[in-house]
This record gives sequence, structure tokens and C-alpha cells, in this order.
Amino acid sequence: MRILSGIQPSGRPHLGNYFSMMKRMLEYQETSELFCFVASYHAMTTVEKGEDLARNIEGVVLDFLALGMDPNRSTFWVQSDVPEVTELTWILSMQITVPQLELAHSFKDKVAQGIIPSGGLFIYPILMAADILAFRSEKVPVGKDQKQHLEFTRDIARRFNNVYGDILTMPEADISEDVAVVPGLDGRKMSKSYKNTIDFFATEKDLKKAVSSIVTDSKGVDDVKEPEGPLYDIYSLFLDEDGRKALADRFRTPGTGYGHIKMDLLKAILEHFGEARERRAALEKDPDTVRDMLAAGAKKARAVAAPLLDEVRKATGLRYMR
Ligand code: ADP
Ligand code: TRP
Repeated sequence: MRILSGIQPSGRPHLGNYFSMMKRMLEYQETSELFCFVASYHAMTTVEKGEDLARNIEGVVLDFLALGMDPNRSTFWVQSDVPEVTELTWILSMQITVPQLELAHSFKDKVAQGIIPSGGLFIYPILMAADILAFRSEKVPVGKDQKQHLEFTRDIARRFNNVYGDILTMPEADISEDVAVVPGLDGRKMSKSYKNTIDFFATEKDLKKAVSSIVTDSKGVDDVKEPEGPLYDIYSLFLDEDGRKALADRFRTPGTGYGHIKMDLLKAILEHFGEARERRAALEKDPDTVRDMLAAGAKKARAVAAPLLDEVRKATGLRYMR
């Protein structure tokens, strides 16, 4: 089974991205043929400064490698290093209409957030379809917010195959319903755009600052507290069922303040990501190795996309006089 997904380098990844996407991709690496890329072109729709985009791309690459992405086993690359995808984007753009693109929730949401409604933001779902279809992906793990993009991808593939023959592989979305929305420090959805995130690779000092600022009610050490809210929910992500029960008891039993629980959560985060944090620090000092890994990843990805593009060019009439 070929699994493919991408992550946008639109800022620092956070616990919401980790639990809904990164962790699941790394689990698939154990059982499936994994294709994973850093969606640099998609991030251009929201990141304008070149130096910011470059820093974000490098950051996400290091994060994934540190978390256990194995470039020997999987294919791991940066989107913009594989030009076949942008070529396919243009070709696929004939298979979707402007009125259909106008229905995209993510476009409407981003415009509502004040992001400039550029042509790129509008055709974002076509680029995403090309990402998926260029590699004959079978299964695409994404968060719930990406469901409609997968529907667009399937529509595009269906129409293309109707016109040109059975060339593209029909992908399935793999939406994990059990990863609930991870709450942010303020209790709203954890999101870069709300500045309420926990960056699990931040310095210990910054992590402590973030964890300390998780919003709670004003109950004191000797009060009975309800096991709910962002502190309980975020901590629960790191616990099994017994651990969650024990945590709920600590909330309900007077004698433990929110401050104590926060410091234990900090410890849990540092422990969960401990090895990855060390690996990341080592990789950061070795950019040559990382560059080589990415060059090899792009080469592997192109070796899959190029023959498909050849078929597409032939079917669409772009391969002439041969
Ligand atoms: P953000 O909202 O921080 O900009 P993205 O839109 O880049 O995050 O999301 C990347 C992926 O992570 C998507 O698949 C999305 O569903 C998932 N994701 C983002 N935030 C959360 C969250 N708080 N809880 C669960 N999944 C999330
Ligand atoms: N749009 C996705 C997100 O914001 C990222 C992405 C780009 C992607 N291309 C993809 C995900 C292809 C899966 C497959 O999360």
C-alpha cells in the first residue's frame, strides 16, 4: 500500500500537527511504502518572506528526520525539488471548474482570516491533487479539514481518466476520526494562526513558558478540580488509559495545584520527545548530511513521477512528433 502525505512549512509544527499527522505517518513507515514531503509551494500561499520560508522548510525537515523519518526506508523530499508536480498541476487544472474551486472551505476560511486571495491560494487544491496523483498514491492520511481537498482530487482524477483513459490511480482519504482536535494553550483549537501552540522542539525555557501559560480556572491547591480543559486534554495525549485515570484523580484530589500538574506535563513532553530532541540537535550541526538526504529523496520521488508524467504527456497530446 502506498501512503502519501505532505505538511506545510507555514511555521513551527505543534502538538496538533504531531498527533494528527506526523506521528501517524511515522507509524505507517513501519508497515507501508511511505511517501512524505514538505509542501513548500503550498506554504508560499501564506509565507511571503524568502528567509522565513527557507527557515520553515529546514525546520520541518529536521523535525521529521529527528522524529524518525528514515530516508532509506521511505521517500522523503521537499515539494519544490520535484518539478513534475507543478507540470501536472497545470495539466490537471483543465479538469476542475472555477465554480467548484469556489466551494473550497479552506479557501473561504483563509480569506476570512485575512490571507490575500491570490491565484495561488485559489488553485491550492489542484496542486494538492497533483502531489497525490503524481505518485500513484493509494492512501492519504490527513486531518478532517483536508477531506474536501481529497474529494476534489478524486473528482479531478475521475474526469481526467474519463477523457484520457485509465491513467491516474484513485486515492482514498485516510482521516483518523479518533484524533480529536488538540486544544491550544487558550482552549481553542491549537493553531499557528491563533499563536496558542506548543512547539515540542522549542528550548526548555520556551516550553516551560508555553506550558505555564495553559489557561485554567482559578481553583487553588486545596480545591477539587474538574478533569477537563486544555491542561487535562493536552496532558492526556501523552498517557494511556490508566494514566488518564490517575491524572483525573489528581485533579479531583485536593493537595495538587495546577502549577504542579503543569510541571509534570512539561516533564512528560520532554521525556516523550527526549531522544528526538537530541537527534534534532545533532542533525542541526550536520547540514551537509541533511542536504544529501533531501537530494536523494527528490531523486527517488522524481523516478516515480517522471514515468507517470510521460504517460500523461502522451495521452494529452503534449508528446508530439514521436
Ligand atoms: P495550523 O492550523 O496550525 O495552521 P495546519 O493547517 O498547517 O495547522 O495543519 C496541518 C495538519 O495538522 C492538518 O492535517 C490538520 O488537520 C492538522 N492539525 C492542525 N491543528 C490541529 C489540531 N489542533 N488538532 C488536530 N489536528 C490538527
Ligand atoms: N494541504 C495539506 C495541509 O494543509 C498539506 C498538503 C499539501 C498535503 N499537499 C498534500 C496533504 C498532499 C496530503 C497530500 O495539511
